[in-house]
Amino acid sequence: MNAQKRTCLAIVLAAGEGKRMRSARPKVLHELAGRSLLAHVLTAVTAAGADRVALVVAPGHDAVVKEAKALAPDIEIFVQSPPLGTAHAVLAAKPAIAEGYDDILVAFADTPLVRPETFARLRTGLEHSGRAVAALGFLAGNPRGYGRLIQEGETLVAIREDRDLRGDEAEIFFCNAGLMAIAGATALPLLESIDQANAQGEYYLTDIVAAARARGLSAVAIDAPEDEVLGINDRLQLAGAEAVLQTRLKAAAMRDGVTFLDPSRVTLSYDTQFGRDVLVEPDVFFGPGVKIGDGVTIRAFSHLVGAEIGSRSIIGPFARLRPGASLAEEVHIGNFVEVKASTLGPGVKANHLAYIGDASIGAKTNVGAGVITCNYDGFAKFRTEIGEGVFVGVNSAMVAPVKIGDGAYIGTGSVITQDVSPDALALARSRQIEKPSWAKDFRAKRQKT
Ligand code: UD1
Ligand code: MG
Repeated sequence: MNAQKRTCLAIVLAAGEGKRMRSARPKVLHELAGRSLLAHVLTAVTAAGADRVALVVAPGHDAVVKEAKALAPDIEIFVQSPPLGTAHAVLAAKPAIAEGYDDILVAFADTPLVRPETFARLRTGLEHSGRAVAALGFLAGNPRGYGRLIQEGETLVAIREDRDLRGDEAEIFFCNAGLMAIAGATALPLLESIDQANAQGEYYLTDIVAAARARGLSAVAIDAPEDEVLGINDRLQLAGAEAVLQTRLKAAAMRDGVTFLDPSRVTLSYDTQFGRDVLVEPDVFFGPGVKIGDGVTIRAFSHLVGAEIGSRSIIGPFARLRPGASLAEEVHIGNFVEVKASTLGPGVKANHLAYIGDASIGAKTNVGAGVITCNYDGFAKFRTEIGEGVFVGVNSAMVAPVKIGDGAYIGTGSVITQDVSPDALALARSRQIEKPSWAKDFRAKRQKT
């Protein structure tokens, strides 16, 4: 049977304690590349063809449930209490298993780097008659602490936890990643036959291999690279996983035609989208929701979140684009310019020291140095609408709500509180006065005293 046609339930285990994170936040809500560990796993199992997802949580983990429902509204939540082991956790989702699926995929919410293709390969491992289990394995640099995959030829005969190893099994480097595909038809009787006869007195999911063999069914190990099955228990492992994911994301971007002058000094998000021939200088941060067109240059020390940048634009150095910044093509945003929730038309230039918030700016308008949109009165936000081809003089303040017509000219240093007509000149500053010889007289007076 083809994997595409087989029905699949994914059970994601997230009932672990996560104490070593030393955090007020549940472990699986910590983030990698701009989204939670949980989000990475839910996305991967769904992409691997899961028709339904069940999440097993500890009691009181309301924030985890909230995040899960935000990501997948029809996710089924099961509470495991107390945590008596991985098999016990899977059985917390018994009502979902009992609905009857061809494949049951077991994933850990703290193991976020597994690719959808790898979950799909695990499922393929079940496509043999009599096959009850496919377990994901990896060749460990250091196998201490991991369950070992014990094979006879191509067949997986048992998984033994580190503390329960016998004889020379400690010399096996092929380890259990913990993730499995289980044939739905026999899953419940196998899971229910697992006991607590081991060093930790837990119900081990890994014992399902021996249980299958005892019933004349078979198991197989599917291998994955070690850096795909990294589990996260503390902040060091979180940083290690972030590094792996960043390398992956940047490799994909470079394959798609992005140049990073120094890939190690750029941070991407899981969803950063690039066009072709984008150049990114060092020390640029991309938070979630950034989309970049063709031929864009992002200069050093820029910080971008939730922004869309049109083709051939030049951003930075030291630019800040915040959520809702929507830039058309050939926009120039220079040093110390911040743009938030604003639409900038083609060819707009704001090259130095400006704040553009809650504004729309028409094509080819020039925003001078030190221009500020005063969008907030301490209670509410107001919009500034600037037309096309406007020249906003240096050090001007636009007190919103306010509209500047097409082709208008704002004199340097103006505080604009009223709408400006198209093609008009608006000046809102005091007139310069001059007192001849005042400075000379002043100095003479002071020198006498
Ligand atoms: C597990 C495997 C081990 C494997 C290792 C890989 C078992 C018995 N052992 O061990 O072979 O090498 O992963 O990292 O499966 N969980 C619950 N409820 C529980 C216990 C665990 O939800 O009662 C969840 C945890 O949140 C975690 C996952 O299951 O996401 C794995 O549990 P963990 O305690 O980390 O298992 P290991 O001892 O690491
Ligand atoms: Mg673990």
